[in-house]
Amino acid sequence: MEPSTGAKAFDVEAIRKHFPILKERVYGKPLTYLDNAATTQKPQIVIDTLSQFYSRENANIHRGIFCLSEQATKRYKSSRHRVQEFLNAGSDKEIIFVRGTTEAINLVVHCYGRAFLKAGDEVLITGMEHHSNIVPWQMLAEQTGIRLKVAPINDRGELETGEFKKLLTGNVKFVSIVHVSNALGTINPVKELVRLAHEAGAVTLVDGAQAVAHTAVDVRDIGCDFYAFSGHKLLGPTGIGVLYGKKELLEKMPPYQGGGDMIRTVTFEKTTYNDLPYKFEAGTPHIAGVIGLGAAIDYIRSIGLDKVEAYEQELLKYGTEQILQVPGLRLIGTALKKSAILSFVIGEAHAHDIGTILDRQGIAIRAGHHCAMPVMQRFNVPATTRASLAFYNTKEEIDRLVAALHEVTEVFR
Ligand code: ALA
Repeated sequence: MEPSTGAKAFDVEAIRKHFPILKERVYGKPLTYLDNAATTQKPQIVIDTLSQFYSRENANIHRGIFCLSEQATKRYKSSRHRVQEFLNAGSDKEIIFVRGTTEAINLVVHCYGRAFLKAGDEVLITGMEHHSNIVPWQMLAEQTGIRLKVAPINDRGELETGEFKKLLTGNVKFVSIVHVSNALGTINPVKELVRLAHEAGAVTLVDGAQAVAHTAVDVRDIGCDFYAFSGHKLLGPTGIGVLYGKKELLEKMPPYQGGGDMIRTVTFEKTTYNDLPYKFEAGTPHIAGVIGLGAAIDYIRSIGLDKVEAYEQELLKYGTEQILQVPGLRLIGTALKKSAILSFVIGEAHAHDIGTILDRQGIAIRAGHHCAMPVMQRFNVPATTRASLAFYNTKEEIDRLVAALHEVTEVFR
């Protein structure tokens, strides 16, 4: 295998040194971590930031009048500002810290959906959504009588935009779509879909969980009303995520949870709510998580998302060519615009069996329905094996995966 100029210019070996876990061995084999869509690994700077916060800086925010608390508050606020810049949001009041993408979507369903959607209104999603962008809407449907409509996907796993447009007629008041499919890798033309949704008078949410670590996201360019992502898929800690929302919408939405920090005044008779973004952040937040996410964002911006994207596209091209050499392997998800996700089946071999064989080689992949059961139903498979790449992966790791898959085919012959 020839190292390409792109890979050299990117210096993946230098980048790998920032991720201590990549030196680990599993069953005596080098760890080959290819489960980045489930969670990314953490660079040393994020680990150090968390450790330093808990060992030297820990205090609650917004409350203390002492030095540590003031510093923690400052760093918390500075992370919010970093997220604002990262997404190119117009104001840091539009950045709400939540636990992750799932909570961000649930917040919108709960606070926007319950307040502003009524029986008979329709919500349009796509056939490639993660369960977290299906189930909350179904729960809302049970509670309020709204109807859920699903735009179909084609055999490559791309959204059928013609059908999407047709379904946008009628009573669609909300469109909630995934930016990049976790099960297929498909990159949706979200800017265009948001434009169409707005023309039809619908409010829009984009699930960016699988996008933010792989491409630069500009919420004002996309034009969406809400955008959600998780910190742990962006090199940051688990338990922290972001909901971006347009100020005018967040302002008119009722609060999410009640408690400390989200109030301005409380009496037993009446409570008034705090300003944005605090109105949606009841209770002590995940302070270390927010600060760690800030460090993760600084880190990935220092690498450059344009470089990350170009390198991952090179890995995807190489990986696709190599993996298709495996006898009987069928890729599930062959969209023309794809993120570096290789989801596949091999003959009758069960995805979990494939995963177990790969694990013994130190190769970490995911096997199952990937929280996207309707995608599995669409392709008529019970599960897939999924290798999902990040910018610290290498062509050598792809070679290891492909060699192990050749062994799998021997076992199942
Ligand atoms: N949704 C995550 C995945 O795709 C957990 O693996």
